Amino acid sequence: MMPAGTALRPIEASRLTWLGADRAPRRWEVPRARGVALVEPYRSGQRISRYVLGKRLGRGGMGVVHAAHDTRLDRLVALKLLPSSLVADQEWRHSFWREAYCASLAAHPHVAMVFDVGEADEIPFLAMELVDGQSLKALLASQLPLDAARALAIARMIAGGLARVHAQGVVHRDIKPDNVMVARDGTIKLVDFGIAKPLWWTDAPFAEHRPQQDDHSASRTGRVVGTAAYMAPEQAYGGEVDLRADIYATGVLLRELWGAVRPSRGIPADLAALVQRCLETDPERRFPDAGALQLALGGLKPWPPSRATAG
Ligand SMILES: Nc1ncnc2c1ncn2[C@@H]1O[C@H](COP(=O)(O)OP(=O)(O)O)[C@@H](O)[C@H]1O
Ligand SMILES: [Mg+2]
Repeated sequence: MMPAGTALRPIEASRLTWLGADRAPRRWEVPRARGVALVEPYRSGQRISRYVLGKRLGRGGMGVVHAAHDTRLDRLVALKLLPSSLVADQEWRHSFWREAYCASLAAHPHVAMVFDVGEADEIPFLAMELVDGQSLKALLASQLPLDAARALAIARMIAGGLARVHAQGVVHRDIKPDNVMVARDGTIKLVDFGIAKPLWWTDAPFAEHRPQQDDHSASRTGRVVGTAAYMAPEQAYGGEVDLRADIYATGVLLRELWGAVRPSRGIPADLAALVQRCLETDPERRFPDAGALQLALGGLKPWPPSRATAG
């Protein structure tokens, strides 16, 4: 469902916004004083392989993402780089290749598409579809009125993208609003396979970079595998994690999403029950995978605001 007044603008028309902007970093883009180590040396104008960096789009626990110009294909991409402080660490580099592997398996309209992965001057990079929009976290924080139909549409797109990820045998393990992008036209794109776990390996073409399937490397480097508020109990307690951990995280996300619908009273019982089933402590009682969740969301009746108001 397209929000009013947000006609899709071709990305190409806004090139300068992405690429020209921050040679002199603006105040709000300078990292807060959390220590000198966090200041990134990546700068707009810098060339990495065939990409020229533009504006910084975001930074999470293990990645810095910039808009970039792909000089060979003359198009804009999002380029994810390891923070420079981690570039020298072999285990982090391995996990970067795993990220690319998992993300590229799940080609789907609701998953940001991987274009390229590589290393240039020892810097590993991942080029992907640039999502012109904002994160779901930013959308929820903006407190803009979110109508019920749009919330349901967002939920269905998330489940659709995740269903594809699951069908490929990948657990995302970090489903949360920061990792869900909302494009200007309302389309949802899942991002950030930084801690995704493949349940099996196929014959990946870059075997020499292939990390071990277990996650011990991740815990040895002190990386938190997951985000506390969205973590299924079995994930939080270091147990065996499968697709159903993502269902739990999606349940937390959906609860936030319905909470953002105004007025939030009167959520239909079938919708509340669906969220509850995602949040079951016992994984056996959750939806088995996102495909099942997608089916259940698809079967819900429309949830008009008028009905919500009446409740
Ligand atoms: N393809 C993309 N297009 C636009 N912005 C993106 C894209 N991928 C990531 N971002 C932005 O960069 C932020 C950090 O990227 P992410 O992959 O989540 O890194 P991390 O693993 O460090 O959390 C995201 O929260 C989002 O705001
Ligand atoms: Mg992230």
